[in-house]
Amino acid sequence: MSQEINLHTPQSLDKLQETALLELEAIKNESSAEEFRIKYLGKKGILRLLLKSLGTMAPEDRKVMGAKANTIRALVESKFQEAHWRSNTEDTRDRSFDPGLPGFPFHQGSLHPLMQIRDEIRDIFSSMGFSIDYGPEVETDYYNFEALNTPAHHPARDMQDTFYIDESIVLRTHTSPVQIRVMEGQKPPIRSIMPGRVYRNEEISSRSYCLFHQVEGLYVDENVSFADLKGTLLAFSRRFFDEKTEIKIRPSFFPFTEPSVEIDVRCFLCKGQGCSICKKTGWLEVLGAGMVHPNVFKSVGIDPEKYTGFAFGMGIERIALLKYGIDDIRLFYENDARFLQQF
Ligand code: FA5
Ligand code: MG
Repeated sequence: MSQEINLHTPQSLDKLQETALLELEAIKNESSAEEFRIKYLGKKGILRLLLKSLGTMAPEDRKVMGAKANTIRALVESKFQEAHWRSNTEDTRDRSFDPGLPGFPFHQGSLHPLMQIRDEIRDIFSSMGFSIDYGPEVETDYYNFEALNTPAHHPARDMQDTFYIDESIVLRTHTSPVQIRVMEGQKPPIRSIMPGRVYRNEEISSRSYCLFHQVEGLYVDENVSFADLKGTLLAFSRRFFDEKTEIKIRPSFFPFTEPSVEIDVRCFLCKGQGCSICKKTGWLEVLGAGMVHPNVFKSVGIDPEKYTGFAFGMGIERIALLKYGIDDIRLFYENDARFLQQF
């Protein structure tokens, strides 16, 4: 080693320092750092040998050379730490971060199609001045039936096959109980829509499911008439579907409304030709509605002599089937990503 570099003059030590600093600059990665460390700072490295060789020098030389050698070693050691750290960070950065590369593609989630339809319905009615209210899905018999003019043993209870939790608690079969809660809590004029999930122990088919969603609507004020109901639902249909959509209003029966109607929309799937969704009739029922029954007003303490009102309950799945041209309601509940990604 001492033959390669003559270390016995102060000039040779200057040369050594210069070379070491140059080599430090060339350190680019872990392996070149290690090479440098062994060459200069290792047990048999140049700087160690240099310090050892001081013992063989004449005392006056040793003093000068010793001081210089120690300074060089301290400098090289500290510069080495720096270079080593720099090479590490630069090296990692080189390998893992290239701001020029395109980003990783990732799937963005989206609202379930039923929730998109719910929001669309909400927006249309809120632009007509309706506010929004919610009620519980586990409901008492009183709110689900009794207060809606449907006492125990009333034949209309058979219109919906109810899931009972116990004698007096049910999974709500429709969103109409929320009407009662809203009228108990607010004074007329009331204009509210009440979306939510409902449950019925029904036979499952391409157009009916055991759980589904409804949006209840309620308008109570002085002089609300059947014409207001018709106008409101027609305006909704024109905005939600389009101007040309055919709808049919036909008489029906609900204990909590009088008169009562149901509304059918022209089946878009078969264009009225007849399919399994419309049971070959060319029409699909989407909602029930009517004028609030005086007994319902009495049960919530609203004077039926002074106020009138209309109410409706529409099935979200049904109008989603029509809007998107989907031929089976069960698709909404299977959570097949290939289906959901289309919305
Ligand atoms: C009712 O539930 C009444 N509460 C509606 C109402 C409200 C009438 C306010 C008067 C005043 P109906 O059982 O017809 O009515 O259900 C209303 C709508 O829910 C139906 O028109 C249909 O769109 C939807 N629906 C009913 N059963 C199912 C089911 N099994 N699967 C999917 N949608 C359904
Ligand atoms: Mg019905």
